[in-house]
Order: sequence, then C-alpha cells, then structure tokens
Amino acid sequence: MKRQKRFEKLEKRPVHLDGFVKEWDDEGLVAMRSKNDPDASLKVENGVITELDGKKREDFDLIDQYIAEYGINIANAEKANAMSSQSIAKMLIDPNVSRSEVVKVTTALTPAKASDVINQLNFAEMIMAVQKMRPRRTPFTQAHITNTLDNPAEIAADGAEAALRGFPELETTTAVARYAPLNAISLMVGAQAGRPGVITQCSVEEAVELGLGMRGFTAYAETISVYGTDKVFTDGDDTPWSKGFLASCYASRGLKMRFSSGSGSEVLMGYTEGKSMLYLESRCIYITKASGVQGLQNGSVSCIGVPSAVPSGLREVLGENLMCMMMDLECASSNDQTFSHSDIRRTERMLGQFIAGTDYISSGYAGEENSDNTFAGSNMDVLDYDDYESMERDLAVNGGILPITEDQAIKIRKKAAKAVQAVFDGLGLPEITDEEVEAATYGSTSGDMPKRDMAQDIKAAQDLMDRGVTVSDIIKALDDHGIDDTAQAVFKLAQQKICGDYLQTSAIFDKDWNCISAINDNNDYMGPGTGYRVWEDEAQWNKIKNIPWALDPQKVDF
Ligand code: 5AD
Ligand code: CA
Repeated sequence: MKRQKRFEKLEKRPVHLDGFVKEWDDEGLVAMRSKNDPDASLKVENGVITELDGKKREDFDLIDQYIAEYGINIANAEKANAMSSQSIAKMLIDPNVSRSEVVKVTTALTPAKASDVINQLNFAEMIMAVQKMRPRRTPFTQAHITNTLDNPAEIAADGAEAALRGFPELETTTAVARYAPLNAISLMVGAQAGRPGVITQCSVEEAVELGLGMRGFTAYAETISVYGTDKVFTDGDDTPWSKGFLASCYASRGLKMRFSSGSGSEVLMGYTEGKSMLYLESRCIYITKASGVQGLQNGSVSCIGVPSAVPSGLREVLGENLMCMMMDLECASSNDQTFSHSDIRRTERMLGQFIAGTDYISSGYAGEENSDNTFAGSNMDVLDYDDYESMERDLAVNGGILPITEDQAIKIRKKAAKAVQAVFDGLGLPEITDEEVEAATYGSTSGDMPKRDMAQDIKAAQDLMDRGVTVSDIIKALDDHGIDDTAQAVFKLAQQKICGDYLQTSAIFDKDWNCISAINDNNDYMGPGTGYRVWEDEAQWNKIKNIPWALDPQKVDF
C-alpha cells in the first residue's frame, strides 16, 4: 500500500508506543459502565442490610458481607440511596454545599450507587469535586526513593533532597528483597537529616514490612492491597478480614497506614466477573472504609496500563480518587507508575489531581531518575522537577514540590549521606566510605556510585534483624557520632508513635512536628475566596514563585 506521508509520521510519534484496546465488558476491559454491573439497590431490616446492589443477604459474597456489615453508614442509608444519582453528583460540585454535608450522604451509599454518582460527572466536574472533597485543606505529594543497587548513601541523599523539596512522605522498596531493613533505615535517617517530620515507609512483603514498622524503622505503610472480587483476594490467601486484621496491627503500634487498590488489578489477575473497573474499585474503597483504615492509595496505581488503554480510562481514574474522598478517606492519588511514552499524556495523567489538589497528588513521584526507580518507573521523575515547578508557578497551584538551589542540594545530600554513614558504623554494618558519601552528594544515579559488596550487605541486614536492632540503636548511633539534630529528629519520630496523632485522616508533620491533618486543617472549600489558595499561603507561594532560573528584571544588564 502506498503510504500517506502524514500518517507515516504520526505513527512514529511516542504515543504509538502506548497500548490502546477496545472495550470488552465480559472480561472487565471497560472503565466505567459494564453491561454486567449491578443496579444499585438497598434494603435495611432491623438495622441490618438484607439486600445490597441487587443481591439478597444469603447470596452475598465475602466482600458484600464485609461491606454490608461495616462499610456503610446504615442510619442514613435508606434516605441517601433514595436520592437521585444526579442530585448527589450536583452536591459534589455545588460550592454552596459543604464537604461535611456531602459526606453525610456519600458515606451512606452502596458501592453501585456511588459508582452511578461518579458516572454522572465529566472530567471538569470531577476536578471541581476533588477540590472540595479532599479531606486535608493543604495539598501535598509523595516520593519514591529507590535505586537499583540499593545503595544506602544514595537512598539517604535522595531522601534528604526530596524532604527539602517539600515531600512529607517518602516510600522506598528494594531491588533485592533482603536489603529491606537497610533501605528502610537509610531512608528514615536521610529523611530526618533533610527535614525533620518527614515520614517514611518501605514497601515489601507484608510480614516483613510490619516487622520493620514495629522496630521503628518506618513510620507508615500504604501497600496493603485490597481487591474488588473475592477470587483475587483468595488467590492471594487473603480475605477482607485478614487485611482488616493487618490494619489493626499497624494501628496498635502507632504506625500510620492506608490501603492500596485501583482499577485494573482484577483485569490483570483475570477475575473481573465482567464488571467495570469503577464498580470493582468502589468495592475496594468500601472495604477500606469498613476496615476503619484512615486512607487509601488509589487511582489504578501500578495497574495504570489497563485503564489508560480503554475509553474514558483516565476519567475513571480521577473518578475513583474522588470516590475515595467521598468516603471521607485520605487519598494518595497515584500518578505513580509510568504508563505512557508521550510527554503530552504524562501531563494529562496528572492534570486532574494536580489542578484540584489532593492529599498526595502523586503517591510516588520518582525522587530519583526513573532508571533507578525499583517500583518500575514513575509518571514523573527528578528530571521533570523544573517542568513541574514551572507548572505550579504558571497556574498558581501548590503541587507540593519546591524549587531548591544546587548549593542547598549539595549541602543536604552530604549531611544525609554522612548521617547514614555514622549509623552504619554505630550498628556495626559494612562501612559506608567517604568516597560513597562524596558520590552520593554529587551524583544523580546509582551508576555514579562506587560498587558495594552486596553479599556482605545482605548478610549484615539479616544479622541486624537477628540481633534485634531497633530505632533506639539508631538514635544512639547518631548521638554517639555527635549528629545531634538528626538523632533528635529520629527520637521525636519514635515519640510520635506513642502519641499517635498522626493516625488521624490525612496526617503529616511540619518541620516542627506539628501534626497537620483533616482534623485541624480540614478542607473548608465553599467556592471562590475559600479553601486553599496558594497565593494566600505566602511562604509556599514565595518559594514557588522564586524558581532559581527566573531572571530578575531589575538585576539584568540589558
Ligand atoms: N491494587 C492493589 N494494590 C496495588 N498496589 C499497586 N497498585 C495496586 C492496585 N491497583 C500495591 C501493591 C504493589 C504496591 C506497589 O502497591 O501491593 O506491590
Ligand atoms: Ca506509593
């Protein structure tokens, strides 16, 4: 066939490397409305839900049972579910209806009804609704801190830089699973060296992760996965109850936690029951609510390749973030795993959450170059910082990331690398050399780092666990090496677990350990002139305005 030149050129554009697929309801390859989705219905008898979304109590599966028992505000349920979906959708975007009024209705809906409400909204309306419905007034964002060599000095340095740039939460994982305790410790120490108050997690196998938290190596957890069909749960030897139990374990030790879910997981696992991604995600959100967990990381998360391939997929993703907020849950709104080769689509991906503002716009902005991201790469990485910060400045949006100078970066990276060097020494771990500290200070990727003896590190990690090392030993190591401020910060963090204020919805700390949450910084948006406006947050706006690469017209020599 003779090629048309324009089509030939179009085919070479990066977007053609992305996956696109037509809808297929019976396999769940449908974002928002499947022909197999149930119609919403509800029957309450003597305070007990006896019918839920077209199913009688005796036909409930595990998820239905869990949600009917714990997930719905029964007192208000008959009234709320009798309202039209359109009228509830209107409440969501009506600036005259406060968030707390909306929540009374939305926490009483059934999963199918909540899905139907989301289905009423176009993308622009979803942005308006998210702006009002996110629990915390001030938006923030979260970073991934990893590298493919699990180099501790680099983790500490990247963590400190991200802390200085404003991320209140940092998440690591491992390239090699047995590095987990070392990565958790390196990130915690680096973060506290960078900015006291930043909380850190290490996403690994569930029992190991809980153990790290109990020792005080982490302060929160978020990758406790829940799913929308029974089969996916039981395939992973889990039930909603086992996840609820795990959630309680974290809470009992004063560790913040949220669940993870998102569209596409059931498609990838092959058990969708032919339901839409939105409807299945609604069940995950209700399981989270039912478990008494304060928040959820959702918005497809690592499964983003699935919804982004079908029509209305990215609208669905913002919709599921919104539904999470409608249940009065903290929302860490994904924008993490990479899915597109197109810079235009990468920007599109985060536009809704970025403009509206969420509790954590990204629940994993790559705080390293993507080649070092062991979560398989993020939608945005460190090399996008200047573009992202320009966007914040252009639109006067607080996206949660601040410009810093090269000097500041060098200083903080060195401080963090030296702190973790001291901790490794104090804990009797394999040495972090001065050469590594220098490389972590000035480098950008693990390729810039001297190689460590990984077999020795892994052995030392196991030995550290066997010896019963806890956060107290880390504080002592820092103190013994005269690193007082970081020792103090790690100590304060440990104290916060006893106090537990940061188990409240959407909680983070500022640098003075003030807990900022939906309790004392609740979203009071009621239209123009209300809610969070970055130009009214003077300190933040000044930092966003003053990107180091803007010319000062009064100082330029023309
Ligand atoms: N559903 C459930 N859990 C998810 N995670 C990521 N995406 C999803 C999803 N769509 C969790 C998994 C994964 C971690 C990075 O986050 O536990 O291992
Ligand atoms: Ca995350």
